[in-house]
Amino acid sequence: MSYETEYDRSITNKEDFWRDEAQKINWFTFPETILSKDGDDLYRWYQGGKLNTSYLALDVHVENGRGDQIALIYDSPVTGVKKKYTYRELLHEVSLFAGVLKAKGVAKGDTIVIYMPMVPEAVIGMLACARIGAIHSVVFGGFAAHELAIRINDARPKLILMASGGKEMEKIIPYKTIVEAALHEAYFKPQGCIVLQRDFVPCELNAGFDYDWHELIKFSEPATYEILDAWDPLYILYTSGTTGAPKGIVRDNGGHAVALNTSMEYVYNAVPGSVYWAASDIGWVVGHSYIVYAPLIRGCTTILFEGKPIKTPDAGTFWRVIEEYKVNTFFTAPTAIRAIKKEDFDGQLFHKYDLSSLRYLFLAGERTDVATYEWVTALLQRPVIDHWWQTESGYPMLANLAGVGLIPIKPGSAGKPMFGFDIRILSAEHEYLPPHHEGAVVIKTPLPPGCLPGLWNDNDRFIKSYLSEYPGYYFSGDGGYRDEDNYIYITGRIDDVINVAGHRLSTSEMEEILAGHYAVAECAVVGCNDEMKGQLPVGFVVLKHSFDSQSEQISEELIAKVRDTIGAVASFKTVYFIERLPKTRSGKILRKIIRAIADKVPYQVPSTIEDLTVLDELKWTLSGKYD
Ligand code: COA
Ligand code: AMP
Repeated sequence: MSYETEYDRSITNKEDFWRDEAQKINWFTFPETILSKDGDDLYRWYQGGKLNTSYLALDVHVENGRGDQIALIYDSPVTGVKKKYTYRELLHEVSLFAGVLKAKGVAKGDTIVIYMPMVPEAVIGMLACARIGAIHSVVFGGFAAHELAIRINDARPKLILMASGGKEMEKIIPYKTIVEAALHEAYFKPQGCIVLQRDFVPCELNAGFDYDWHELIKFSEPATYEILDAWDPLYILYTSGTTGAPKGIVRDNGGHAVALNTSMEYVYNAVPGSVYWAASDIGWVVGHSYIVYAPLIRGCTTILFEGKPIKTPDAGTFWRVIEEYKVNTFFTAPTAIRAIKKEDFDGQLFHKYDLSSLRYLFLAGERTDVATYEWVTALLQRPVIDHWWQTESGYPMLANLAGVGLIPIKPGSAGKPMFGFDIRILSAEHEYLPPHHEGAVVIKTPLPPGCLPGLWNDNDRFIKSYLSEYPGYYFSGDGGYRDEDNYIYITGRIDDVINVAGHRLSTSEMEEILAGHYAVAECAVVGCNDEMKGQLPVGFVVLKHSFDSQSEQISEELIAKVRDTIGAVASFKTVYFIERLPKTRSGKILRKIIRAIADKVPYQVPSTIEDLTVLDELKWTLSGKYD
């Protein structure tokens, strides 16, 4: 297959292309229409198709003779537990838990929040929801109670699935306490919680509200799959936007199943029976797509790793897992590789392991910098493939398609468009930009199957956030450019979203938190470059005059406030107090310039700046750290 021919077909003859792809999965009823529009005039794929994602991920494989193949490997260096589930065993566990949900009155269309660490029960909970048509919303464990409360209010779950706690390296995370605080804050009240007790952090259950996971399972009747419509939602996953309120990305069943299967074939070259490992977290889209749904739909073995790239117990842990389970395809974030590089630069730990099974390393979540690319390529002596995507797309939009045949890798580029993605680089005036000119990365609509059909209960925001700025296109929020060979280079977000250690966070949300502090007159938070985490949020704060002398204490309070409100994962640890913020004459804060000064990179001063001397003040404040 030639990439160019098939890519052209996926753009000019998209319905044909996606009909062929749809034929590769097991529908109960094949769709009547491949592409159409819904009542809100938004594009939808596979109208009339009937399927069930849990059936595709489990039952199909048992029916087709893969019942005894390992479906899921749980490896937890933080607790010392390892466990394997065959497809038959996983199907049994999922059916039992689906029975628990049904017995608790959960039905098709109900929502369920899952707030759990990387344990098999979290995957079982997701697949059990999918089985009965309940819509799950997994919340990342690194988020604090307030973030959980926001998501509970928006998703309005019938139940919360949770664990008593988690382990982050040496630290115990008390999930039960966090859920209780969130329920206290949230105005929406679910009917109860199903609690997985972990022996290192047992918790008390509130009678009549909290139910023990294993006790419920003991009396459960296995539940079979519901026949769902292609357009029925499978899950909601909240992600940071440009305001304090996270966006509830909706994923439907039909397009998602087809697109993930397509991506496993063309992007990852992952054949049924192979071992696929995404070292991410189920709280992020990578975890949803490439720990849970895609590998299972494809009939691979997937790995659920409850640990970190380092310190669990050391920087050889990833290589140990690859050797132990004969991983064929490995996917992680560049920040994880940088963490390993720092601890094992010469590869002494790496060389202890036999990595002969490994074919590819895929990297995403942030741009792969050239130094990291070169270091890890030299170490692995295998293709290292940067690929670009986001929660909204659910699978890669740019990649080097291993399943079609790798093209030469250009370090710094995330490759070429995946089939179905008509990616353009536009100027602020909405004109196509020639090679090497940086602009907004947009995708001509309709987006291919699997991408978000809308936002949970908020299609106005969907249109405003993604479709209005460049009519006829979906705006990704990223900037970038193409080269003369049509490779695309993503240069970073051009909105208020930042990527910290591969975690997507909103700087405006942090600004809202700082601005709510009694001593703060005004503030800006920008994402500054960081060698390890890619970016780190840094606060620039103007204090109300009467508090000028208390900056040290206020700095601690602000850092604690962000940590308590968003969570430790925000990694907000630096505050600079300044006299004034650089602004335009109309009062707009010049965040780009603040960031450029902090990162010591060249910048252009807009003619609309209110007062140039403020830039010297800023440089002076930062000089202690940056000069
Ligand atoms: N639950 C609770 N807390 C969490 C958490 C979770 N699931 N994940 C992270 N945190 C906490 C950490 O413990 C840390 O807390 P601290 O400030 O008390 O130390 C804080 O959030 C920041 O975490 P992180 O950014 O992960 O930094 P780290 O120093 O703990 O680890 C790395 C650094 C590079 C090892 C780690 O960031 C990493 O593994 N990154 C890869 C991430 C990844 O795979 N992303 C993929 C998304 S596609
Ligand atoms: P998330 O929705 O959490 O997956 O974050 C998506 C964002 O991460 C994108 O919009 C990009 O800003 C960034 N990102 C993900 N992968 C890459 C990549 N390969 N190169 C550059 N940026 C990336």
